[in-house]
Order: sequence, then structure tokens, then C-alpha cells
Amino acid sequence: MLEDNFFNLGDGLGGIRSLRTQAKIKLEDLANSARVSLNTLKKIERGLGGISPDVATRLGAALGVSDSLVQSVHKAFLETATPGEGYVTSKAGNVDVTYPAQPLERNEVRRRVLDIFCGAGGLSYGFEQTGRFVTVGGIDLLQDRIDTFTANHKHAVGIAGDIRKIDPETIEELIGGVDVLAGGPPCQGFSSIRPFRNLTESDPRNNLVEHYVLILSHLKPRWFVFENVVGLLTHEKGGKLEAILEAFSEIGYKTSWRVMNAASYGVPQSRERIVIVGNRIGKDFLWPKPSHHYEYRSMAGRRHETIHTKMDLFSQEELRPAVTLMDAIGDLPPVESGQEATSYSSSEPKTEYQSFIRGGALKLTWHRATKHSPKMLEIIKHAGSSIHDLPPGMVTSGFSSCYSRLDADRPSNTITVNFVHPSSNRCIHPFQNRALTPREGARIQSFPDSFEFKGSAAQIVKQIGNAVPPLLGAVIARSIAEQDEA
Ligand SMILES: C[S@@+](CC[C@H](N)C(=O)[O-])C[C@H]1O[C@@H](n2cnc3c(N)ncnc32)[C@H](O)[C@@H]1O
Repeated sequence: MLEDNFFNLGDGLGGIRSLRTQAKIKLEDLANSARVSLNTLKKIERGLGGISPDVATRLGAALGVSDSLVQSVHKAFLETATPGEGYVTSKAGNVDVTYPAQPLERNEVRRRVLDIFCGAGGLSYGFEQTGRFVTVGGIDLLQDRIDTFTANHKHAVGIAGDIRKIDPETIEELIGGVDVLAGGPPCQGFSSIRPFRNLTESDPRNNLVEHYVLILSHLKPRWFVFENVVGLLTHEKGGKLEAILEAFSEIGYKTSWRVMNAASYGVPQSRERIVIVGNRIGKDFLWPKPSHHYEYRSMAGRRHETIHTKMDLFSQEELRPAVTLMDAIGDLPPVESGQEATSYSSSEPKTEYQSFIRGGALKLTWHRATKHSPKMLEIIKHAGSSIHDLPPGMVTSGFSSCYSRLDADRPSNTITVNFVHPSSNRCIHPFQNRALTPREGARIQSFPDSFEFKGSAAQIVKQIGNAVPPLLGAVIARSIAEQDEA
């Protein structure tokens, strides 16, 4: 039997091709009987593509071997071709695939999530935190994003590459079916959306939102979550949002949308995002009720879709006070410009949020302050709540929120990808003379201290600043799970 003698024939160095030739099956016949495209099978045999658990099962059945043999032979083949650091990495054009550190158990019951434009994976990390979802895949243009993503989503396949160059069929073969598609395509540059009626996958689509719709229409998950900046509301006087909603409806999804502020859900940051949720079987989505009281002026203006926490809408008991900046970061040891602290010292968590976010972390990481120039330190010493607090002439340009200190007793302002630079949007520590550290930024975004960031310090700051706060992801995920079960 093939299974018994295969490893005597060169320890899998010939990969799936060796298995196939041993079994005396032609390439086309194997593709047919395993129900994979010829192209994909060729890629697999050349070590250019991965094998999802479903494809491994089908290949195994067609070859008369176990799926675990298929996986281990392929893994050995890939390792011989391009050994990666801890993960097997194979090149497919300019798309890199990272296989899961821990394959899923066969009897896994959690709902499967694919996170596209995943960045560090804040959104899907929140889904996982509920215990009801497992992230099975992530796609991002940048390898450092995928490195962070796969380090924290141990069951996920990570695909690094331009989503426009990865066809939905390949995504399905690598990742398998999913229950939820999550993600927020960057909306710069989407000019128009053509009708999705009579969609064919050979129809080239150029913008990233169209690719989101294309992948959705191919994978047909029960739910999707589409997150974006509030500015989307005013693109083309609202025409853009309308076109996106229409595209979702054309491919069969019932959608609704809201403007959510993370601070209303226990995140120590005022961060507004538009969220569209869609369901393929016509279920209504019940939007999660806010849990924390935070009144603010919405960037979306007066719209009924904005979720507010005004006290006339809720009883006092229903809402807790918003989590403030100091509730979130007050236990971290002080650091000066250019310094780093690598231990919590003897400081214990003092708030519920600090205990939650510290979790079981033993070592403090990324609590490293930017080294500011003497001139910048002088500016910081004078900084107050806006640029107008600086002595006249000290800086010559900037928005009113530049070179400004954060408020200790309120949720942080929205953090950006530049939160370690005082010249950008309000990001100076309330009492210390420096900008926020990456650790403080991560806490403001509700990433637990145990979340592992990969890449250079500059890229990690971007991963943090760009993310959907995991806590917000978790709130949306819980509502989805509840409505699935209703
Ligand atoms: C706003 S961030 C996503 C944050 C993520 N949702 C989170 O919660 O951490 C958008 C991501 O889209 C990625 N991206 C941009 N263009 C892309 C493309 N053409 N293909 C794939 N990913 C792309 C960027 O690298 C970036 O990480």
C-alpha cells in the first residue's frame, strides 16, 4: 500500500507529485476526482500553493492515502523548497502563504471567520475573544501584518499579497468555507461600483471594495461585517455608500448599517466607524446596545443610524461610565522620552480594564517612548489641550489637535497611525513629557498585553493605529452569534 512504502521513497521530497505518480494517476484525472482546478493542482505540485484541510481530504481520498499524509508530504516538500521562520512559506507569484501553527480539530464547532484586509487582525481577534468564533484565514498586502495576524490567530492561514491578484477560488481552496467574512477595505481610490447583477468571476474588478463584494459572492458566508471610516458617508454625497449597499443586496444579502463609537462599548477611546452587517438568509441584525455612557458630537452629524448613549435613551443602571485613558494605562510604569520599561515593576492593576487587558501577561513589551529632539521636548513641556496652548511662534503650523495632551479623565481621542509623534493628532501623555508608547496605543485600542506584534517598531505602530478595537469586534460578534442562535 502506498501509505506504507511512501516514506521509503525519498521522504516526501517529491511532494504531491510523487504521491500521484506512485498511484499512477494523471494530473488531469487527479484534479477531476479531487475536485480542484487543474491550475491549483499544478501550483500545489510545484510548491506554489497551500492545501486547505478540505482539499487535503479530497486529494487523500483520490490518491488512496490519509489526508494527514497528504499534508505532511506537502509540508516536507515546501520546507525543502523554502524554509520559513517557524512557519512554512511558499511563494505563489507575489503572494505568500503562511500555514496555521495549530490546525483545527476535526470536531471544531466554532463559527469560521475570514478576515480580509486583516492588518494585525484586531477585528477578528475580537470575534475569537467571544469564544464562539475561530479565525481560519486572513489576507493582507503586507507580510508584517500577516506575521502579526498568524502569531495571534493560531488556526488561521495567512495570505500576504494584493487581494486583487488572489482569485476567490484560491482563497476557498486555501481556507475552506466560512460563516463570516469580516474586513474593512481601504476606501481611498474607489471611484465607482459597477452593478453586481449577473456577476461572473472572470469579470475584472479594480477597486478594493469590489473585491470585497466579489469574494463575498464567491464564498457566500451567512454573515459579513464591513467596517469603514465615517468619511464614507459623505463620499459622493452618500452615493458611494448607497452603491455599496446596493452591491451587497444584488448578491443576495440583507444589510443594515450604523455608526458605532468604540467608547460606548467599553473601549477607552472615542473612535467612530461605520459598520455594515449583512445576512444571506434574510435575518435582521439586532445592533448591540451600548454598555458605556459616552456623549460626544458624532462625525456623522445628526443621523438616526448613529448609536448614541444619551441619558434620555437609557436608564442610569443600563450604562457604565466610559473607560478613561488613565483607567486604561494608569498602571504602566512612567517612562521618559527615549526610554523603555520591560517590566510592570511592582505595580498592580488598579481598574477592571487594567486587569482585563493585562490578562496573564508577565512581561511588559513595547512600552518604549519615542526619543524626542530637545526642540520637541520644549514644545511638549508647554503642550496643553490644543495647539493654541503653546507660546506664540513656538510652532508655525498644524491643526488645533496637533502638539496636544490627551485628557486623563476621558476616553482617548481617536488614535492614528502616527500616535508616537507629538506633531500628529493629540497623542501626548497627560502628565509625562512624551508621546504615547506603542503599548499605551495598543491598550487604547483594547489589544491585550499578551497580543504579539511582529515587524519593525514603525510598522507595529501602524498596525495598532489602523486596527478595529478587538473589544468592538467582540461586541459585534456576540450579536451575530446570538442572532444565529435565535
Ligand atoms: C485599516 S487596515 C485593517 C485593520 C484591521 N481590520 C484590524 O482590525 O486590525 C487595512 C489593511 O488593508 C491592507 N490592504 C491595503 N490594500 C490592500 C490590498 N490591495 N490587498 C490586501 N490588503 C490590502 C493594508 O495593508 C491594511 O493592513
